[in-house]
Amino acid sequence: MVDKLYLSYNTIHCTVKKIAQEITSSGYDPDLMVAIGSGGFIPARILKTFLGRPILTVGIKYYDDNNIPMEAPRKIQWIDEVEKKLKGKKILLVDEVDDSRVTLEYCLRELLRHDPTEIAVAVLHNKIKEKRGCLPEEVSRYFCGAEYEERWIVYPWDADDIEEHDAHAIARPV
Ligand code: G4P
Ligand code: MG
Repeated sequence: MVDKLYLSYNTIHCTVKKIAQEITSSGYDPDLMVAIGSGGFIPARILKTFLGRPILTVGIKYYDDNNIPMEAPRKIQWIDEVEKKLKGKKILLVDEVDDSRVTLEYCLRELLRHDPTEIAVAVLHNKIKEKRGCLPEEVSRYFCGAEYEERWIVYPWDADDIEEHDAHAIARPV
């Protein structure tokens, strides 16, 4: 059975702060963030507290309603406004987890079509595994809060009962 890792909002906040510090000390100063929904929304919002940069959002669907991966990811929300704002900009693409990397690669390639000057990736967590997708060579930097093998991460925003979720998180600290 895959081990479950429950993370509280406070833990996520601390992870985002650590990523923000790494981004800043690396000298990367993005003009804007692009958050991949829905998992990337809350991490991007917390990052904004530290980086002070605006957030654009996109929605990508890769798993169907039965949780089976589709042939390729599909855009479910992709506003034209996003495309117009990318040219000549430094972008930070934000998501919660780098799993198969398929969605991430798809999204990066779509964004790269609109001529940003630089594009970097920030994820809370990376799964150490064989990846089906790859990071295009244009991706200059990759920031990741923590890496795990063989764990199912339970995020607080998926909790039905947040008190119960936090009790699990406290019982089994990271
Ligand atoms: P990737 O390119 O970023 O690696 O994403 P991939 O297509 O492999 O799909 C990752 C999907 O699987 C995401 O959901 C992500 O939330 C989910 N996922 C993978 N590993 C975990 C995990 O350990 N815990 C949780 N909670 N989810 C995991 P999605 O289809 O993008 O939906 P959403 O939740 O972001 O809306
Ligand atoms: Mg996601």
